[in-house]
Amino acid sequence: MMRRAGAEVEVQISGSPPDKPKLMSGGNYIKEGRDSAKSTCLIFSPREEDEVGALGRYLQLFAKHKVNLLHIESRSSLRQANGYEFMVECAPGGDLGQAVEELQHQCGYFSIISRNYRDNLGTVPWFPRRMRDLDKFANQILSYGSELDSDHPGFTDPVYRARRKYFADIAYNYKYGQPIPRVDYTEEETKTWGAVFRKLTELYPKYACREHNHVFPLLIENCGYKEDNIPQLEDISNFLKDCTGFTLRPVAGLLSSRDFLAGLAFRVFHSTQYIRHSSKPLYTPEPDVCHEVLGHVPLFADPAFAQFSQVIGLASLGAPDEYIEKLATCFWFTVEFGLCRQNGELKAYGAGLLSSFGELEYSMSGEPELRAFEPAVTALQKYPITEYQPVYFVAEDFEDAKEKMIKFAETIPRSFGVRYDPYTQSISIIDSKYQVEELVNNVNVEMQILMDALRKLKN
Ligand SMILES: [Fe+2]
Repeated sequence: MMRRAGAEVEVQISGSPPDKPKLMSGGNYIKEGRDSAKSTCLIFSPREEDEVGALGRYLQLFAKHKVNLLHIESRSSLRQANGYEFMVECAPGGDLGQAVEELQHQCGYFSIISRNYRDNLGTVPWFPRRMRDLDKFANQILSYGSELDSDHPGFTDPVYRARRKYFADIAYNYKYGQPIPRVDYTEEETKTWGAVFRKLTELYPKYACREHNHVFPLLIENCGYKEDNIPQLEDISNFLKDCTGFTLRPVAGLLSSRDFLAGLAFRVFHSTQYIRHSSKPLYTPEPDVCHEVLGHVPLFADPAFAQFSQVIGLASLGAPDEYIEKLATCFWFTVEFGLCRQNGELKAYGAGLLSSFGELEYSMSGEPELRAFEPAVTALQKYPITEYQPVYFVAEDFEDAKEKMIKFAETIPRSFGVRYDPYTQSISIIDSKYQVEELVNNVNVEMQILMDALRKLKN
């Protein structure tokens, strides 16, 4: 019954809801999600003395307590030499509590992560552990992309709404590893983009930070940034991957803060692909492709900023709800609305500023209050989302902001460390001495490579 390390099997339970959300009258989707939305993941290792075949014995526990399994995996353990580790995803229903209790008594290592973490099983809030787990966000969206508020400029425009559904469907069906579908933007959409592009690029030399202005010409050269062309997310994603390892993923609607921040831990940025309504080219009540590609993208090509963003993402994994809110607030006042000082001058690096010509000028007009970025303080600041910010936080530079965020992350109550492993594109949950020893060995090898290079430089 023991599967080879690396073997993987999907177990479909009968009668599980369909993967896609239901289509409501009027063309909107409602979130239905598959069972995994409420599923619970258990990660456990057999005791060292356990015989081969232990997994079979453990699985019988679930059958005994009528817990259906959606997915079973076995891997080599990172926590002990020559050990194995299992991950099972349990559907809701049955007596999971009892199964968990018996399993805990029988196995060695045990941890439990679930979106239903407000239970009494000591559950850690669910987070993606592998890059492909990000596919699960699609059925966790809080609203589907074609749902518009009644005061949205495109609310009464059926053509615009149909277009929004087209973009939402692209994102909903997107899977990890696929190229992001290219979009033939209409003439009207390209005109809207052109108006925004023209206006903002006039302001960047004066107001944008050094890093933004450094990368922008590269985006023009490599990714088709120009007034009469809306750049394609796929081209941008490939460019960013070469620069910092960041990639883009299309997103069908609003993600929860927890999910959105988790993407950053993998250096993945969830990006919209649609454009604002043509009736108001210089206004959008929500992020659109202009905001993403003009505001966010240039900074993700900067190594220090990329690292800063990932630090926020890593800090969020498995964090309690109140800390997710604090991290999302730090994200808001940095990645979205951050200012920094360069050569004694205020400059913008936040995407909300770099994609809004009105607020970009206003933020440096002397009118709003400026405070120094200090995560523990910034995290508590309340902010409006539909008007200009009354307060901005100023960072020294991204290195400094990153160091501060790392220190802040250490205050988050969490019983394990997390680390992103770029080779396997997965998150390691570090909670054993053996893992730390293995990582220190890796750092040693890196050090030797660096020392060797340094010696060569001296000669
Ligand atoms: Fe944004």
